[in-house]
Amino acid sequence: MRILVVGNGAREDALAWKLAQSPQCEALFASPGNAGTASRGVNWAIPVTEAKRLVERAKAEAIDLCVVGPETALAAGVADRMREAGISTFGAARSAARLESSKIFAKRFMERHGIPTAYFRAVHSFEQAEKALDVWEGGVVVKADGLAAGKGVVVCDDPEAARAVFREWYGRGLPGGGSDAILEVKLHGREVSVFALLDGRAAVILGAACDYKRAGDGDVGPNTGGMGAYSPPASFPHDLIDHVREKILAPVMAGLAEEREEYRGALYLGLMWNEEEGASVLEFNARFGDPETQVLMPRFTGDLPLLLKSCADGALDPSTISTSLQACVGVVLATREYPVRSTPIEGLAPQLHLPAGCAAFWGASELSGGRVRSPGGRVLTVTALGDEIAQARERVYAAVRGLGGALGDGLTFRSDIALLP
Ligand code: AMP
Ligand code: GLY
Repeated sequence: MRILVVGNGAREDALAWKLAQSPQCEALFASPGNAGTASRGVNWAIPVTEAKRLVERAKAEAIDLCVVGPETALAAGVADRMREAGISTFGAARSAARLESSKIFAKRFMERHGIPTAYFRAVHSFEQAEKALDVWEGGVVVKADGLAAGKGVVVCDDPEAARAVFREWYGRGLPGGGSDAILEVKLHGREVSVFALLDGRAAVILGAACDYKRAGDGDVGPNTGGMGAYSPPASFPHDLIDHVREKILAPVMAGLAEEREEYRGALYLGLMWNEEEGASVLEFNARFGDPETQVLMPRFTGDLPLLLKSCADGALDPSTISTSLQACVGVVLATREYPVRSTPIEGLAPQLHLPAGCAAFWGASELSGGRVRSPGGRVLTVTALGDEIAQARERVYAAVRGLGGALGDGLTFRSDIALLP
């Protein structure tokens, strides 16, 4: 197969790494790709939202399978345009990707199909938000409706704090633009992310992971795209996946079928779990997670091109899913002021020396004169496998410490990833 990965993050580098290991992979391309995908295949300099140019190039290069990574590409209709051109594509159609690109669409979809989620109200102005908050009691989560690159959610302890957020948003503009938002009851429990693969009719669960969203150790500081992750999730009931399959994935699949939404791609279920209520949906993403993908791929022992092509072609073959019993821990190395500011960094070595069982995946970056240049932010994810989480954790931090000299002192990381209570 000649395979194209659309995107430029560490998630896409991890997908490219696993795809390239398969004997099915004859040639690998990434667009725009990064310093990692450049060493695994060939990068094209076409941005992820330029559907027409991506399709033209994919046709010229006789691509057999296109894997779309980021939500911005899905929302720009890249998967739709690829499929119209007859190219097998793993990625949700633009319309189905509204499960991620519109929080209001997602909440109403869950309401229509009996999918457990927090009570919500949609608002379109500051006045409407105030009215809703006047009768609100307790914790409230404020979410901008559209895609906001992780900046559109504020968790508030009381309605007063939410009022201040709305005042600022409706004064200065909502994150991601637009004028619609939701208020949602603040749920309690523990978060877990479950990843399903859909082929338009059927779905299978690929795996689950826990990620760390706050910038600092002990879950303090601002929200980030994710500072680390581990898989499998620890200290959840052994039947968590069966519960999610029955209570969440089944009604999602029935809802998509009923509403004739075409969904061939990854569906990320962001869940809150507690003993009393089981799992509730915090968010859907119409794609794989970052950094969760970086810890799922090392554990995946099946043939990824065959699996993703079977989804793309509406012929999902669950027997191609096989997962190692080993655990994987991933630590994100970010520039020091992330997420407040992105500080460009350059001169890093593209090939890092890591112990066996470890891997490194580059975030947005490019190769220039044999060295890596990054615009800053989440620069690199380092992962390690281990027999259990504690061993994987020890190994990943040993690997990160071992890289110290090669990376200079511009990068920082959380030291408590996968440190379980
Ligand atoms: P989202 O992008 O909707 O997943 O929100 C980002 C983060 O905000 C989640 O990972 C949670 O940590 C938190 N969050 C979102 N919705 C809720 C909720 N209803 N209750 C508690 N925390 C939430
Ligand atoms: N790790 C969170 C996300 O990918 O949205």
